[in-house]
Amino acid sequence: MRRKRTAVLGALGIAVGLTGPLVRATVSLDLTDFNDDVMREMDDTMKRLDSNIATRDPTSVAADAQSIRDGLKWAQDYFTKKGNVEDAVKWAKQGQDLADAVARSAQSSDFETSLTTYDSLVRTCRACHDAYKPPDI
Ligand code: HEC
Repeated sequence: MRRKRTAVLGALGIAVGLTGPLVRATVSLDLTDFNDDVMREMDDTMKRLDSNIATRDPTSVAADAQSIRDGLKWAQDYFTKKGNVEDAVKWAKQGQDLADAVARSAQSSDFETSLTTYDSLVRTCRACHDAYKPPDI
C-alpha cells in the first residue's frame, strides 16, 4: 500500500515537472495591483454585446463596444506601465480596434461582420489570458 502511494505521487511529480513549463509559458508578473473588476465587467459586457448583435441593435452594440474599449484601454495602460510586455499591450490595442470595428459594422447594419469581428475580439482576450492570466486553481 505504502509503496504504491509513493509511486503515484512520484509519477504526479514527474508529470507536473514535465508539463508545467511546456503547457504554460506564463510569465511571472506581479498582478497584485491588477483590477479584476474591469475584467469581470468586460466579461458581462461581452455577453450583452453578443446578444445585442444577435438582436440587431446598433445603439446598444455601440454602447457595449465603447465600454469594452474603456476596459481594454485600462489594460493597455496597465501593461504599458509594467514594461517589457509588448505583446500584452499589442493585444489590448488590437481589442480596442476590433471593438470599434464591431460597432462600425453594426452601424451600417452589417451584423455578419459584427459577429465575425466579435469572434476575433474574443480571441484577443484569450491570447492575453493564455500568456498572462495565472491558471485557475
Ligand atoms: C492585455 C491582456 C488582457 C486582455 C486583452 C484581456 N485580459 Fe482579461 N485578464 C488579464 C489578466 C492578466 C487577468 C488575470 C488577473 C489576475 O489574476 O489578477 C485577466 C482576468 C480576466 C478575468 C477573470 C477575472 C477574475 O474574476 O479573476 C475575466 C473574466 C477576464 N479577464 C475577461 C476578459 C475579457 C472578456 C477580455 C476581452 C474583451 C479580456 N479579459 C481581455 C489580461 C487581459
